[in-house]
Amino acid sequence: MDDVDALLGELTEAISAADTLEALDAARVAALGKKGRVTQMMKNLGGMAPEERKAAGQALNAVKTQLAEAIEARKAVLEDADLDARLMAETVDVTLPPREERQGFIHPISQTIDEVVAIFGEMGFTVAEGPDIEADWYNFTALNIPPEHPARQEHDTFYLPREQDGQRTVLRTHTSPVQIRTMLDHKPPIRVICPGRTYRCDYDATHSPMFHQVEGLVVDEKTHMGHLKGCLIDFCRAYFGIDDLPVRFRPSYFPFTEPSAEVDIGCTRAGGKLSIGGDDWLEILGSGMVNPAVLENCGIDSTRYQGFAFGMGLERIAMLKYGIPDLRTFFESDLRWLRHYGFAALDMPSMVTGLTR
Ligand code: PHE
Repeated sequence: MDDVDALLGELTEAISAADTLEALDAARVAALGKKGRVTQMMKNLGGMAPEERKAAGQALNAVKTQLAEAIEARKAVLEDADLDARLMAETVDVTLPPREERQGFIHPISQTIDEVVAIFGEMGFTVAEGPDIEADWYNFTALNIPPEHPARQEHDTFYLPREQDGQRTVLRTHTSPVQIRTMLDHKPPIRVICPGRTYRCDYDATHSPMFHQVEGLVVDEKTHMGHLKGCLIDFCRAYFGIDDLPVRFRPSYFPFTEPSAEVDIGCTRAGGKLSIGGDDWLEILGSGMVNPAVLENCGIDSTRYQGFAFGMGLERIAMLKYGIPDLRTFFESDLRWLRHYGFAALDMPSMVTGLTR
């Protein structure tokens, strides 16, 4: 018993002597840890006579409880001291002026993608994506632009070095290859839009070698030109927020659509300034009924299915809506430009309310 009393005295002293939380933990391990003094003595109980064991067991359990209490009490004291010390060290000078807070802005291209996705989303479209580096076949051949077709020259394509098997890859010149990928992966009905980066070797106030397009594709059994017109008229009016915006469809040519139509919207050109709405015309996108040859290239039965597709430049529609004069500035990463033309988060449009801004 004397042993137990002495042990209690010794360990209690170690606990009160601990002057940091780490030292206290070391004292706890030395007393009650797996190899601690009390634990060791508990192990010795097995070798004692029953009577002796009972008394010694009770005494050791009492010691354990007292030590645990002492540790808790000491811990509270040390934690308080710790907090006091931190409060003393970390004084706050409430007279200092606040730090300037920099708010981030949404880039006009991201904003435009969000707006376009929101508008087509309400019409039931989902978003599809594809790679920026495309096989020649997806970018051209499958879209009914065979090698040597003059349309290839018009695209000012960036070609990558030929692969070992002679295959040619390109930086996609439009988002139309995502149409091909979608039709190869999914059977109709299909209703997707494909926003993304596109590349052409061109650089001036309205062209940049990297720019963005959004493509649309609808394929179903009864899809017809009326759907194409209704869908694009609704889009143009919702995007520019003008309910009676004039929209016209002008015959055109794309190898992957037949018939094809360029879409013009009403505009006003006065004193060298262009504004949306009015009785002059401005081209904003290309469209058409998917050429049956393209459906067949993707394994879709063109006697059963037909569809329409459209594509437009995102910088172009952003420049028109937000009055941004030079396309190259989109990619110069000038923070003053971004602060001026950028958007606060959560500025989302809807077909019903338009963009609240
Ligand atoms: N891919 C065409 C372009 O880049 C646009 C387009 C897409 C036209 C879909 C018709 C249908 O010019």
